[in-house]
Amino acid sequence: MRIDRPPMGWNSWNTFGNDISEDLILKTADVMADEGLLDAGYKYLVIDDCWSLKERDKDGRLVPDPEKFPHGMKYLADYIHGKGLKFGMYSCAGTQTCAGYPGSFEHEFTDAATFAGWGVDYLKYDYCYHSPIIPGKYLYRRMGLALANCGRDILFAACSWGSDETQEWIKTTGASIWRSTGDIFDTWQSVKDLADRQDALLPYNGHGCFNDMDMLIVGMHGKGNVGLSGCSDVQYRTHFSLWAFMGSPLMIGCDIRNMDDVTRQTLTNRELIRINQDGWYSQPFALTPMMIQSSVKIYAKLLENGDVAVGCFNMEDTKTTARFNIDEIGLPVSTGKTLQMREVWSGQETAPREGTVFWDLEPYGCAVFRCRLTDLA
Ligand code: GLA
Repeated sequence: MRIDRPPMGWNSWNTFGNDISEDLILKTADVMADEGLLDAGYKYLVIDDCWSLKERDKDGRLVPDPEKFPHGMKYLADYIHGKGLKFGMYSCAGTQTCAGYPGSFEHEFTDAATFAGWGVDYLKYDYCYHSPIIPGKYLYRRMGLALANCGRDILFAACSWGSDETQEWIKTTGASIWRSTGDIFDTWQSVKDLADRQDALLPYNGHGCFNDMDMLIVGMHGKGNVGLSGCSDVQYRTHFSLWAFMGSPLMIGCDIRNMDDVTRQTLTNRELIRINQDGWYSQPFALTPMMIQSSVKIYAKLLENGDVAVGCFNMEDTKTTARFNIDEIGLPVSTGKTLQMREVWSGQETAPREGTVFWDLEPYGCAVFRCRLTDLA
């Protein structure tokens, strides 16, 4: 299935890892549907690794672990669909999943049929234990073809972490998103590393196959499977803003059954989600920070109604001022135009008169603007 917007949803891995169950999934579906997340755009509920038994059945089919999922997967799919959500599952291009459950290698068509029979809408497809001989692009093409012929629309979410030059071949596989980085952990250093690695991959992002910077850690506060030291709420906000700005899929990774208000506000910022889901999906480009500002990342991108989005992200623990020139966006003073800029978290507005923008950022803080063109006069 092809999609024209980065998918949004929730995934079990970051918080729950192996500790998944029917009860968790049903309650998570309730919260997504009833507490504003579905309304904000989060519609895919994805069960990650560790859902199956360690052995296939006598016909070679994957079997859900009956202790974790006593009513099986079709039951879950029906419940999830009944809530207006979409159902995602997980497998792997290797002989085993990353956590050691059966992978889909040499079972691709059987597994695609099984997922279709259960009512699955999204398949995350990992890369552990893959053949050392068969190139990854062949393995992903196999599953891409299996899904395209399984009789159901299933979004193919590739997860080969950008290895083996994934960006060069992923659009040949039918995948709609591709993990462009390694795994996220609940630390600021991890957010920084993934953001840095994304810079060189921006030209590969776009309609047809979106760069996936990995699931969100917003609101984890150090708890759960990838929870380490955790981050502050300011850091989570900057992480969310970066992922949204870059056009990454937005897959929540915290326990939404116990989400605090700050986490909810971060995850449901409508203006940022609107920028993330913008129909043009144009490539973000870096603006040159003026003076020495190695800690600040500044990007802009064009939006479909002629607006421009600008994001300034302070990656370090000192206060700073983001400074940049809107010449680089295409608006030198000679055009007689400037930007009327509205910051999406604070609602504050500015409109540079001389082409240069100055904006104070707190440690680890960010500012994201939706900007309308306006006459300078
Ligand atoms: C890999 C993926 C993660 C997660 C785990 C599950 O590490 O990159 O996102 O799916 O496997 O084992």
